[in-house]
Amino acid sequence: MPLPSPFAAWGQLSTERRRHIQLAVGGVTLSWALAALMACTTMQPQAPLYQQLGGVAKIEAVTDRTLDRVSSDPRTKRSFDGIKMPFLKKSVAAYVCKVADGPCTYEGETMANSHAKSNISGAEFDIMVSVMREELDRAGVPEGAKNELLRRLAPTRRDIVKY
Ligand code: HEM
Repeated sequence: MPLPSPFAAWGQLSTERRRHIQLAVGGVTLSWALAALMACTTMQPQAPLYQQLGGVAKIEAVTDRTLDRVSSDPRTKRSFDGIKMPFLKKSVAAYVCKVADGPCTYEGETMANSHAKSNISGAEFDIMVSVMREELDRAGVPEGAKNELLRRLAPTRRDIVKY
């Protein structure tokens, strides 16, 4: 009994032609499978930034070390004269944790209000950011998480810098 038409047509093709068609179908299937896999990978929900940074304790360690350094660096220390550092450290850690979507409560002032009297220059701000970048590196924070945190902090510049 003759085979139904598509199968009959397949049977009539030369071996070489069949091989070509099999390769083409295989190629298309493989590309679809890869595309689906990539879509799944990119659609994975990402951990919140504070977790990517290593958690609350890691954020506190980074902000503490940053403040230790800028408050003793001759280029930036003048602003910290007479400031209660343990309180400031807690407040800055809570602020950064919040910016990174962490489970922290920031009860301090706005960036504009808290820096209003400090007369901070652009150069001082940039030094603090580069110190923080170094401390994030030193803490082993992945490049992507570090850049995302610094990207989120960057807009504070216009509220903090006076000249
Ligand atoms: C990314 C940049 C910065 C962030 C996120 C930041 C964050 C903060 C936060 C959260 C506070 C505490 C506010 C409060 O408790 O009400 C604070 C206070 C303070 N910051 Fe910054 N700061 C930044 C840059 C700087 C720079 C560049 C300097 C100086 C070089 C500086 C000096 C101070 C000082 C002196 C205080 C205490 C002000 C006071 O108590 O009168 N900050 N900052």
